[in-house]
Amino acid sequence: MSRRRSVSPPLILVGVCLAVALVVVAVIMITRTTTQRATPADYEKYSWQDSKYKGIRTRISKQHGPTYDSLIEYPVTKSSEVNQLIADAINDFDTAFHEQIAHRLPARGEHFEQNTSYQVVRLYGDFLSIEVMTTRDTGEANTQHDTKYWTFNLATSKEVTLDTIFGDTATDGKARLFIYIKRDIARQMAKKGIPYDVTRVNAAVNAGTIKSFLAPDAATIRFDFGKGIIASDADGPITVSLPIANLQLFLQSHDARHLFDIMPIGAAPEWDAPEVTKGSVDCEHVKCIALTFDDGPGPFTAELLDTLKRRHAYASFFLIGQNIARHDGLVKRMHAEGHTIGSHTWDHRVLPSLQPTVLDSEVARVNDAVQKITGTKVTYMRPPTGALGPAVYSSLKRLNMTAVMWSVDTRDWADRDSEIIYNRVIAGAKPGAVIILHDIHKTSVDAVPRIITALQRQGYAFVSIEELFGPNAAPGMAISRAS
Ligand code: NI
Repeated sequence: MSRRRSVSPPLILVGVCLAVALVVVAVIMITRTTTQRATPADYEKYSWQDSKYKGIRTRISKQHGPTYDSLIEYPVTKSSEVNQLIADAINDFDTAFHEQIAHRLPARGEHFEQNTSYQVVRLYGDFLSIEVMTTRDTGEANTQHDTKYWTFNLATSKEVTLDTIFGDTATDGKARLFIYIKRDIARQMAKKGIPYDVTRVNAAVNAGTIKSFLAPDAATIRFDFGKGIIASDADGPITVSLPIANLQLFLQSHDARHLFDIMPIGAAPEWDAPEVTKGSVDCEHVKCIALTFDDGPGPFTAELLDTLKRRHAYASFFLIGQNIARHDGLVKRMHAEGHTIGSHTWDHRVLPSLQPTVLDSEVARVNDAVQKITGTKVTYMRPPTGALGPAVYSSLKRLNMTAVMWSVDTRDWADRDSEIIYNRVIAGAKPGAVIILHDIHKTSVDAVPRIITALQRQGYAFVSIEELFGPNAAPGMAISRAS
């Protein structure tokens, strides 16, 4: 019979004591981690240093907990409300960090880490575009990133939102902006070979999620999507920078003009407008509305002309020069049947950045081609993507032409759906409205009979641009609706 060796009582006692001590230490560490929440009041060390931007300072606060290191930079502007708003967002980042590391211990010899800083994207007078970003290393495989950005008016202490800069045209303006953002994301993804996740992009790009913007310069609007929002973590963050020129029509508000180089529609250069002869329809007493069709002529234009003729409706066509030769019969018909023909440039170039001679010829080549067919001078043009700018106005002045913008954007090039197009026209219809459509899309041409039926029932007359405004309403300028 062998005797098992037993552990002596004093050793058991030592073991128990050690275990208890370890538990106590662990509990203390966890409690300290969770109770030392990083509200700004907990930060004892403030240091100040000059930021490279005038009037903006940095409040640095460092914290070293038992399990973590944290460094946060708060921007300090002349507006305490703005400072508080930014600090609140930064503190939300901080709360998330502390929630993530609560009740957890880092690997031996390591610390959890939080780094929060900001970038002044632009400071222009009282307008400040600023972005805060945080990185959290919480022992996960990937570090986490979060970002938030705003544009503020420091004089009023208010954020300048998309709603502020779009003003009255916010619904249409934002809808168009979101299309541009999505297109740019798709372009970037294709370039990088990343699959485009429609659901994910739609969830990130909409009126509920995007209210703020960055204005890096007077010609650009920018949106930043943090890592993991549009694509996977590994694909990194995505920045979308868009030229403001394409959104000018919608950016006619006071704040937009302060932030961006916006040419006011209808109030651009000095010009002594000649006497204007109004059209044949008395739009003072009749509810007039103008359907305009861009980018044609195309394969569906003949059908559209048939519809318009049958329903006694007049419209306007802004033609791309390259399409004219193949369809000169249609151009002849447009003129003979009382529609206005305008230039949409020779090959759909975005105009504002072109050299003056190139710009003039882009517009005028179409005029010449049309005049050869119809014998009539072209006085109206529509700039591709609606992009206007000083150079475009100068060209209009030289060519003695008027730019026709629009007041109802059907976005029919983005949504190829006759019912949606119909819905947007009916919802936006007002006396004097100018509606933009594209006759190169079957879905747009298909929507026209129903649009005409519904609006004629409401007493509208479909008139051409010449009937609505006269032969050349505002040479050297742009018009977007009749008053
Ligand atoms: Ni176009």
